[in-house]
Amino acid sequence: MKFLFSTIGQKIQIAISGLFLSIFLVFHLFNNLVLFTGEENFNSMVIFLKSIHTIIRIMEFGLLAIILLHVINAIVTSYKNKNANNGKYAVKSDTAPINSKTMIWSGLFILFFFIIHLRFYWFTFQTLDETANFFDYMLLDEFGFLGHTPTAIIYIISILLIATHLRHGFLSLFKTLGVPIKYRDGILKYVAILFWGVVPLGFILVILAIQFRIIQ
Ligand code: HEM
Repeated sequence: MKFLFSTIGQKIQIAISGLFLSIFLVFHLFNNLVLFTGEENFNSMVIFLKSIHTIIRIMEFGLLAIILLHVINAIVTSYKNKNANNGKYAVKSDTAPINSKTMIWSGLFILFFFIIHLRFYWFTFQTLDETANFFDYMLLDEFGFLGHTPTAIIYIISILLIATHLRHGFLSLFKTLGVPIKYRDGILKYVAILFWGVVPLGFILVILAIQFRIIQ
């Protein structure tokens, strides 16, 4: 138990919860790619997900717990690091990679995007019944929805930040879990690119396709 709250224990919690969140994003992207197959398929998928409502709720609670684990541990370790370095290691901290210093800020921006995303997409979908046209909501030209260009821009910036956050996150994950360099530079490098490169690119393609009316 004590180990869980030690700095290394907290880093392991951040690493593993981050990995689960990345896996969620792959599934989430697949759901969104259904938009390319047309209105009927997308609506049927959402109605199917509504029909297994209890299972989805349990998964959502799990997801929420993992997000909280990730965010709280990240804030606590970053605070501990700051205090530990205060003054004493000024030179060392100045030469730290820019990404590691900005990790907490990009994380907080992502959290902000998350709140907007859940407020408009998740919450709206909760209030609609099976007779609604969910596909139309995906394309809506109103703040918070992707038909709206300023919202689409906020999304793209957030997703690029998520990609940077994930890229740095995967490097840390392999170090934290003590993966030997030969694997980090080998196959695992490509597995990481799938998460921090291909998946964010997929989300951006969905947004551009909505903006340029390829999905309509
Ligand atoms: C093209 C970009 C995206 C679109 C079109 C999109 C769409 C949606 C929609 C429609 C929902 C509601 C699903 C429902 O209640 O049935 C949702 C929920 C959610 N989205 Fe996204 N999303 C996008 C990107 C993201 C990104 C980048 C993240 C994470 C960083 C994310 C995280 C979530 C979470 C955590 C939920 C709530 C869990 C769930 O019900 O599945 N989404 N999204």
